[in-house]
Amino acid sequence: MSGIVGSVSAKTNIIPILLNGLKSLEYRGYDSAGLSYIKDGKLIINKVKGRVKDLENNIEKGTYSNIGIAHTRWATHGKVNETNAHPHQVGKITIVHNGIIENCNKLKHKLEDKGYIFKSESDTEIASGLLDYYYKKYQNIDKTIQKFIKKVDGSYAICMLVQDYPDTIYVIKKDSPLIIGKGQDVNYIASDVPAILKYTKKYYILEDYEYGKITNNDITIYDKEGNIINKELKEYQGSDLTSDKGIYEHYMLKEIMEQSTTIRQTINPYINTLEDLLKLPDLTKYTRIDIIACGTAMHAGLVAKYLFEEYTNTKCEVFLASEYRYQNNFLTEKVLSIFISQSGETADTLAALKKVKEAKCDTLGIVNVKESSIARALNKVLYTEAGTEIAVASTKAYTAQVALLSVLALSHAYRKQIFKEEKILKILNEFKNIDSILKPILENTKTYEKIATEIYTQHDVFYIGRGLDYALAMEGSLKLKEISYIHSEAYAAGELKHGTISLITKDTPVFSSATNKHINAKTISNLKEVISRGANCYLITDEDIKDDSFKQIIKIQKVSMFLKPLLVMIPYQLIAYYTAKLKGCDIDKPRNLAKSVTVE
Ligand code: AGP
Repeated sequence: MSGIVGSVSAKTNIIPILLNGLKSLEYRGYDSAGLSYIKDGKLIINKVKGRVKDLENNIEKGTYSNIGIAHTRWATHGKVNETNAHPHQVGKITIVHNGIIENCNKLKHKLEDKGYIFKSESDTEIASGLLDYYYKKYQNIDKTIQKFIKKVDGSYAICMLVQDYPDTIYVIKKDSPLIIGKGQDVNYIASDVPAILKYTKKYYILEDYEYGKITNNDITIYDKEGNIINKELKEYQGSDLTSDKGIYEHYMLKEIMEQSTTIRQTINPYINTLEDLLKLPDLTKYTRIDIIACGTAMHAGLVAKYLFEEYTNTKCEVFLASEYRYQNNFLTEKVLSIFISQSGETADTLAALKKVKEAKCDTLGIVNVKESSIARALNKVLYTEAGTEIAVASTKAYTAQVALLSVLALSHAYRKQIFKEEKILKILNEFKNIDSILKPILENTKTYEKIATEIYTQHDVFYIGRGLDYALAMEGSLKLKEISYIHSEAYAAGELKHGTISLITKDTPVFSSATNKHINAKTISNLKEVISRGANCYLITDEDIKDDSFKQIIKIQKVSMFLKPLLVMIPYQLIAYYTAKLKGCDIDKPRNLAKSVTVE
C-alpha cells in the first residue's frame, strides 16, 4: 500500500507538488521514496531509502520540471533499499506502482528470455519491463496498455512516463485506488485525495481496467478496449485534510484526545429522539449478521457481535476479511454482511465485499473515508465522522466504529421491541453525555504514564477478558504491539490456564477489564491465578473492587454495556501510547506498517 503522486503542468513547477503529495500519503507506506521528472527532454530519477524528507534533501533546491511522477513505498517485493525503491525505468518506460503483480515471476522469465536484465527484486520493475516490451513491439501506447491489462494478474495503480511523449502521464488501474485531479493548466494523479487537496477538490475516480492519458490541459480516460469513457467529475465534500498536530506531540495522542468529539459527530444524527434512532437501517428481516473486516476494524466488529447477540437476539458472526474471501460463507437473502473499514481501501475487505456482491446478498458498510473504494462498492454506507486519521494505529476511527455499531444494535433492539422505550431513552441519554463521561478517563493521563513506566521494559504483556472484555483485550493488545513493538497477546480469561499461563512469570504485566457484573467474579479469579504466579495485574472496571494484590485498578463510571467499550478502550490506547513514547518508537508511523493495506 504505497503512495503515488503525479503532476503535469503548462508552467507550474511540479516538483513541490510531488513532494507535498508524497508527504500527505506517507501514511500509506514510508520505507523508501523516489520521483522522476523530465527536464530539457531528459528523464531524471531520484530515489532514496528512507522518508520523503530524505528524498527532499536529496533534490537540489530549485529543481524545476513541468511533468513528473513520485512514490512512497511500503515494501511488498524485495528488501527496503534504494534499488527496490520506485520509480523503475526499463528502456523507454518509467513507472511508479501501488499493488502486487502476482504473475511477476512468470513474466520476468519470459522477458529475460527476450534479453531483459532486471536490477531489482521489485515486481514493479517487471511491470515496467513488460510495458517497454509491448511498446517496442507495437509502437502504440494504447495497444501497449491494453496488452498489459490482459497479461498481468494482481493489483496495480500505475503512473507511467514514456520517453517519446514527454508531455503526457499515463495511468492504469486495477484494485489499487487511483484518482486524477483536475486543475487550471495543471493536472494531478494520486492514490488518495489528501495528496491533491491543497491544489484542487475536483477529481475523477478510476475504476478497474481503466487507463488514462493526462497532459496539462487534457484528461482522457479509456476502458480496457480503448473506448473513451465520460466520467463524472467529483468534488471533495469533506473538511480540509491538512490537519496538523496542534498542541500534541503525535497525531495518535491528538486523535485519542479528540474521541469525545468524533464519537459525538458520528452518532449525533441518531441519538436525540427515538425517531432519530429509527433513521438507522432496519435489520429485522435478517436472521444472521456477518461482520467482515481486518485488524482494529475487526475488533470493533467483535464488540458489535456481543451487542447484537446479547441484546437483540440476533446471530452474529465476525470474520477476518483475509479468511472470509476464501471460505464458504453460507450466504442467503436473510444474511446481512456488514463491512467495517476506516480507510475504505483495505484490499482484503474489498475483495470479501465483492464476493458478497457476486452472491447478490445485502451489504452495509461502516466506513470513515467518503467515496473510498469500499464505500462506493456497498449497497448502503453508514459513515463514521472521525475525520482524517493520520496515525497508523487506529484509535478515534475504532471508537467511532464501536459507537456507531452500538447505536445500530440499540436501534435493532428497539425495532424488535426487546427494549422498552424507557430503557432506550436512558441509554441514548448516556450517549448524549459522552463528553462528560469520557472526560475523567481522558484526563487520567498520570495513571497511564505511571503504568507505562512499569511495563515498557517488559518483553511480553498479556490482555485477558471474558465476553465483551475479551473483544476489548484484543484491541488493547494490538495497540500496544503495533506502536511499542512489545510482544503482546490477548486471551479469553478462562483459556489462559489451558496452556498460556505457563508463560506467566514474576512481574509479567497482565491487563484486563471487568465490565459485566454477571461474569466479573470469574475474571477476577482468573486474574488471581496469574497474580499467584507473580504477574502484575492491571484491571479496568466499573465495580468497587478493593484488592491490594492488583498492581493498579482503574475505575470507570457505571454506564450501559453499549458505552462500556468506549470507556475501557481509552486507558488501553493511552497506556500503549505512553509505553511506546518511553521506548522512543515512531508512534505515528510504526515500522513495517502502513495506514491502509491496499495489498493482499
Ligand atoms: C489499526 O490500528 C491497524 N493499523 C490496522 O489493523 C487496521 O485496523 C486494519 O488494517 C484495517 O484497516 P481499515 O479499517 O482501513 O480497513
